[in-house]
Amino acid sequence: MSFFEWDESLDVCVDGMNAQHKNLISLMDALYNKNLACVPKQELLDGLANLLQYVLKHFKDEEDYMASISFVGLETHKKLHQNLLTDLSMFVDKFKNSNAQQLSSEFIMFLKFWLSTHIRGIDTKYGMV
Ligand SMILES: [Fe+2]
Ligand SMILES: [Fe+2]
Repeated sequence: MSFFEWDESLDVCVDGMNAQHKNLISLMDALYNKNLACVPKQELLDGLANLLQYVLKHFKDEEDYMASISFVGLETHKKLHQNLLTDLSMFVDKFKNSNAQQLSSEFIMFLKFWLSTHIRGIDTKYGMV
């Protein structure tokens, strides 16, 4: 069973963005499984770097999409993306600079709720216009 799977509660009614959310969820799920398998720390750091890179791409594409439909909530949404990135980077740096060899359950849960609450509470709004 997967730790994190896309389901219809995460449907934002925009195919391209649903596809990217599914990719993000897969990256997080893969990271969870690597952590469970106790892979070397460098592999986890590589997985986190990939995730961060994809998050940056996704936020940019999502902001471009909202601009293309003249979505009124674009500026607020951009600020929320910025806050999410700050939080994620902070967690990654903390792990990188610590002696920990594995990701804490706090971090894993943060990833899951960080993304799913944003998709359900915020991203769904641009699909309603
Ligand atoms: Fe978003
Ligand atoms: Fe999104």
